[in-house]
Amino acid sequence: MDAAFDHDQLLKDLQAMLADEDDWTAAMATVACEIFQRDPQINWAGFYRVVGPRLLKVGPYQGSHGCLTIPFERGVCGRAAREARSQRVDDVREVPDHIACSNSTLSELVVPILDGRGQVRAVLDLDAEALAYFCAGDARAMEGLAQWLGAHYFP
Ligand code: SME
Repeated sequence: MDAAFDHDQLLKDLQAMLADEDDWTAAMATVACEIFQRDPQINWAGFYRVVGPRLLKVGPYQGSHGCLTIPFERGVCGRAAREARSQRVDDVREVPDHIACSNSTLSELVVPILDGRGQVRAVLDLDAEALAYFCAGDARAMEGLAQWLGAHYFP
């Protein structure tokens, strides 16, 4: 499948909204809101931040309850942070250590945000209730957004 929102428009709008914004928390909140609002199939959109050695803590998000703490060793977000690589999961039931914050989530896309030294600072997590909701194009688009965020906030 292919997510419903227009990738190019999202990036363009976010770049305009955040051009003069230097606060990372404000930026994360805005990104989560814009993605969630544009795609009704996405049931969770938000961030996990690297807050310590191999530890993620929930950041700004939209959707139902998000688990607060995720070690790098666990789940799809943990793997994205550990490997500094995007993770696209068509069926979360096939991921043994998937962290089910919501039972209705079936597919997800997690993209790391890197700083200028290549260190992971956060991950952007998008979840959907449909199987295989996110396509390779969605992953590329979110990687483009993550790259822009990394360059803008963690040069
Ligand atoms: N599904 C994620 C956990 C975060 S929630 O979905 C919001 C994972 O396994 O990493």
